[in-house]
Amino acid sequence: REEKIWLTLSFGMIMIFMLITGYQGFALGMAPPSHKETIDPQKVDETAPFNEPGIKQISENEYEVVMTLQLFSFTPSNIEIPAGSTVHFTLTSKDVVHGFEVAGTNINAMVMPGYVQKITQKFDKPGSYLVLCNEYCGAGHQLMSTTITVK
Ligand code: CUA
Repeated sequence: REEKIWLTLSFGMIMIFMLITGYQGFALGMAPPSHKETIDPQKVDETAPFNEPGIKQISENEYEVVMTLQLFSFTPSNIEIPAGSTVHFTLTSKDVVHGFEVAGTNINAMVMPGYVQKITQKFDKPGSYLVLCNEYCGAGHQLMSTTITVK
């Protein structure tokens, strides 16, 4: 019957619309983030997770390090982790642009005020890794260093 044909056609149209809408939603969901996570550089001390900088074990062999960089230090400093650990760093600067370079690894990042920098690194080899600021940040720049001890 004619009615049946119309019913089938309109049902088909609805399905097509749903597919298009669904696909758009999916495509949007899959889109890479268009900007970095931001933070008010004046309120770092009051903004999670930077209100509690430090090292935290999140699972076996996995650690989270929340760190602030400021003239001319890293907080926390002198981190210690067991060999074989994967470390998720969450970093921000409280004043000017600093660098976060870990000698003996591929870590070499800029840490800017107003932005949150995230880096994940696995530390297999025991040793003392020198952490340096590699962006000129003022008179104390060359003193700005710490260590990550892997044992
Ligand atoms: Cu901080 Cu150079």
